[in-house]
Amino acid sequence: MYKCALILAAGQGTRIKSNLPKVLHKVCGKEMVNHVIDTMRKAEIDDINVIIGKGAELVKEKTASRNISYSLQEEQLGTGHAVKCAVDFLKGKKGVVGVFAGDAPLIKPETIQKLFETHYKNNNEATLLSSIVQDPTGYGRVVRDGEEVLKIVEHKDCTEEELKINEMNAAIYCFDIESLLNSLEKLSNDNKQGEYYLTDVIGILKNEGKRVGALSIDYEETIGVNSRVQLSEAENILRKRINNRHMENGVKLIDPNSTYIGDDVEIGRDTVIYPGNVIEGNTKIGENVVLYPNSRISNSTISNNVEIQSSVIIDSKIGEGTTVGPFAYIRPESVIGNNARIGDFVEIKKSNIGDNTKVSHLTYIGDANVGENCNFGCGTVVVNYDGKKKHTTTIGNNSFIGCNTNLVSPVTVEDNTYIAAGSTIVNDVKKGELAIARSKQRNIEGWVDKKGLTNK
Ligand code: UD1
Ligand code: CA
Repeated sequence: MYKCALILAAGQGTRIKSNLPKVLHKVCGKEMVNHVIDTMRKAEIDDINVIIGKGAELVKEKTASRNISYSLQEEQLGTGHAVKCAVDFLKGKKGVVGVFAGDAPLIKPETIQKLFETHYKNNNEATLLSSIVQDPTGYGRVVRDGEEVLKIVEHKDCTEEELKINEMNAAIYCFDIESLLNSLEKLSNDNKQGEYYLTDVIGILKNEGKRVGALSIDYEETIGVNSRVQLSEAENILRKRINNRHMENGVKLIDPNSTYIGDDVEIGRDTVIYPGNVIEGNTKIGENVVLYPNSRISNSTISNNVEIQSSVIIDSKIGEGTTVGPFAYIRPESVIGNNARIGDFVEIKKSNIGDNTKVSHLTYIGDANVGENCNFGCGTVVVNYDGKKKHTTTIGNNSFIGCNTNLVSPVTVEDNTYIAAGSTIVNDVKKGELAIARSKQRNIEGWVDKKGLTNK
């Protein structure tokens, strides 16, 4: 049977007190709405429509990579009104639509699949997810008569009796598309908040004698993020899930509570991660890697057997067996070869560094192509910026760059060359040459005595 999904993401989220639309707040490095979209995809729902309103352009921009369609809710008149704004998307479709909240990022793909299966199996017109909780304050309550679901009542509209119900509405549903479209027509905003509630659809269908069901799930998956406190709760839960997944796959986390791994990160087995590491975005880490404490690695590929310590690596690639840090900064578009060494206080920007090349200390390399088996002495600077433009430096294989060298770009240093310490290189260095570019040393005998500067 055909299935599609709506994600409600038009609200500003006043309770979160932010200029950013609520659904764009990140949990474990990814926007809540993108968590929901990615989970849908894992549950094999392909046709996804996101209802946007507050900050619509920004929400579009941040979800652009995900191949979805949008409906616009210009005024936020409630969750029922939001679904009404997607009528063009739903019209003419036959099958089942899942409706999800963009602020509930913890739902699991297998739970969504179970929701759809339950819906089909029981021939329901509507099926909702609920949870039994100790304190359902703020949530809609599921009102039942025995087993049967009668309606949902929002917290603010509850009677004394209804407030005692501890089964909350998770705001995640399946509907028969035609039944949903028909009942949207019948919604009113005659309630405490003056909003068109999607939750009223349940009561409307029930009153028409349609089959309505509920599936009770673990509260953890249903958490809707309305405040900063709930945002951090969601973060804790997701972090635990992610970290457990990696440990189950053979990754050693010394202290999972202080290890921060994004949802899309991949890590190979026998890799060891010490506390204080933050691994973000589409980072891929190989096997047998050791991440000593306190690095940030973002959108990067780290090959097998690499060791990294207290460093920042962004949008770059590190080859097999290479060591990085402590205190290295590898900036976007850098590619470091195999068995290389990027040591302490080294900054690499948009450069290629060949296999076995060592850049051990206090060096800046920007906009450069560096070959294999080179050695950079301490304090080398690639002078890539002339105040107006960036220029490129090329260094061949097997070059020895002496300490405290400036390579004024653009300049080419060919294979098998030596540069004497303290040189400022402005001209190309040809194969096999030694370049010395510094003033000659002169020693003046007895000078200190003559000036009367000798300390007795
Ligand atoms: C909703 C449910 C409540 C449930 C709770 C679970 C309704 C009326 N209530 O309440 O029963 O227990 O979720 O978390 O549905 N949105 C729009 N347009 C609007 C209003 C909201 O797109 O006009 C979006 C929001 O951006 C958000 C989602 O719908 O992503 C939920 O809205 P929110 O205001 O957070 O609903 P709750 O009060 O939490
Ligand atoms: Ca909510």
